[in-house]
Amino acid sequence: MNKHDNRILPAKGKLGVLLPGMGAVTSTFIAGVELTKKGLGSPIGSVTQLQRIRLGKRYENRSPLIKDFVPLASLEQLVFGGWDLFPDDMYTAAIKAGVLTEAQLAPVKKELEAIKPMTSVTDANYIKNLTPTHGKKGKSKMDLANQVIADIETFKKKNGCDRVVMLWCGSTERLPADAACHEDIESFEKGLKDSDPAIPPSMIYAYAAIKTGVAYGNGAPNLSADIPALVDLAEQTQSPICGKDFKTGQTLMKTTLAPMFKARMLALSGWYSTNILGNRDGEVLDDPGSFKTKEKSKMSVLDTILEPESYPELYGKFHHKVRIDYYPPRGDAKEGWDNIDIRGWLDMPMQIKVNFLCRDSILAAPLCLDLVLFLDLAKRAGLKGIQEWLSFYFKSPQCREDLKPEHDIFIQHLKLKNTLRVLMGEEVLDHSGLDYYDPSKTASAAPAPKPAAKKSKLAKAAR
Ligand SMILES: NC(=O)c1ccc[n+]([C@@H]2O[C@H](COP(=O)([O-])OP(=O)(O)OC[C@H]3O[C@@H](n4cnc5c(N)ncnc54)[C@H](O)[C@@H]3O)[C@@H](O)[C@H]2O)c1
Repeated sequence: MNKHDNRILPAKGKLGVLLPGMGAVTSTFIAGVELTKKGLGSPIGSVTQLQRIRLGKRYENRSPLIKDFVPLASLEQLVFGGWDLFPDDMYTAAIKAGVLTEAQLAPVKKELEAIKPMTSVTDANYIKNLTPTHGKKGKSKMDLANQVIADIETFKKKNGCDRVVMLWCGSTERLPADAACHEDIESFEKGLKDSDPAIPPSMIYAYAAIKTGVAYGNGAPNLSADIPALVDLAEQTQSPICGKDFKTGQTLMKTTLAPMFKARMLALSGWYSTNILGNRDGEVLDDPGSFKTKEKSKMSVLDTILEPESYPELYGKFHHKVRIDYYPPRGDAKEGWDNIDIRGWLDMPMQIKVNFLCRDSILAAPLCLDLVLFLDLAKRAGLKGIQEWLSFYFKSPQCREDLKPEHDIFIQHLKLKNTLRVLMGEEVLDHSGLDYYDPSKTASAAPAPKPAAKKSKLAKAAR
């Protein structure tokens, strides 16, 4: 292992993974981890499990798996728990979600049945289309927050966990009105005591985690920990935080294609995106309030990537529309269509059509695994507050208030890998490649090409 990794505490003992919201994404995530542990599945889509990272110069040929490079918890060390509005255990939730079949789930049925949600913090003002049957009762929102803190402690003790992380996989809440209680910790804690209506359930879970120094991630577009009060608290309690809204389907496509248009200076006239999905998430998003939260998250990416203010001729006037329609027959098998109108040389119009027949939770599950493992790494590495290097996973990356979020998937990926290199004391890669061709640097840095290697290259060309 690398000589600098002694600044990072080792990933010893069990890691508790606490998930507010135990529906389709959560049950698919847990089932996938349990199947992988038994050698019955492959964690495809997970950067922590499958991706390699190049280290040093290209001729050094150092390219370890990320999980061998940075000290991450192993799948065997994870213990799952969480909260839900309904009392279904993880097997029942997985069957209801219909992402994986009964036959696929059979080998891990026992493990999934053993995971039962704790009672949840509910508020009908924030999620309209569900009627909870498994909620907590409390005198105030502070009382509910303290109950969640007690849940975390009990879970940790009962399962002998060394550490825990929390990742919101709950439904998309309506956005709260801007309120003074979001501004600083004192006002937020007063707001909890007064049960301020501007504090939705997801903020109560986030507060409980952050107050107790637990790392917190947010897979939905709700504000949750993205308010000054909780950002300040995370700094104080040394909790790493990140969000918002897993970047999985259409936005993954958008933030891959848009950087290409910008890199090639192709103009954009319009981008029409529509989706149909029929899972519980789709049902929640059928409520205009929850949809508005999601729409805001999905809409923000193009402006930041394309920078219309710097390129008015190319991106000053494009039409962007996003729709999501609840269509029950599709279940979790979401279908997204994109019609993209672009312009090239001499303003000539062209079109691109994307039809992504995806599986929502299959795309989200590996992100849950990566985020849980990286948040735990961040905590052990002494990182606190907003973890912008995890923007790679989100549609609306949380970042410092005065900065623009980074949406370009390629920059996000580089940011993530370079952060891992920094954490492990390795050289940050700028990919300019100039040093390979600068004789003064080459002489000291690069080994002279070996005659044998030259010969084999020539021989290859001759063949
Ligand atoms: N590809 C994806 O699947 C994807 C991508 C981006 C974001 N998301 C977001 O991830 C979240 C989960 O998606 P899903 O498909 O699993 O949805 P789901 O409806 O199957 O599961 C969400 C669960 O959260 C529970 N819940 C809601 N409020 C809660 C609360 N206050 N406390 C505890 N539990 C609560 C619900 O009862 C439900 O079981 C959604 O917000 C969705 O928008 C999913």
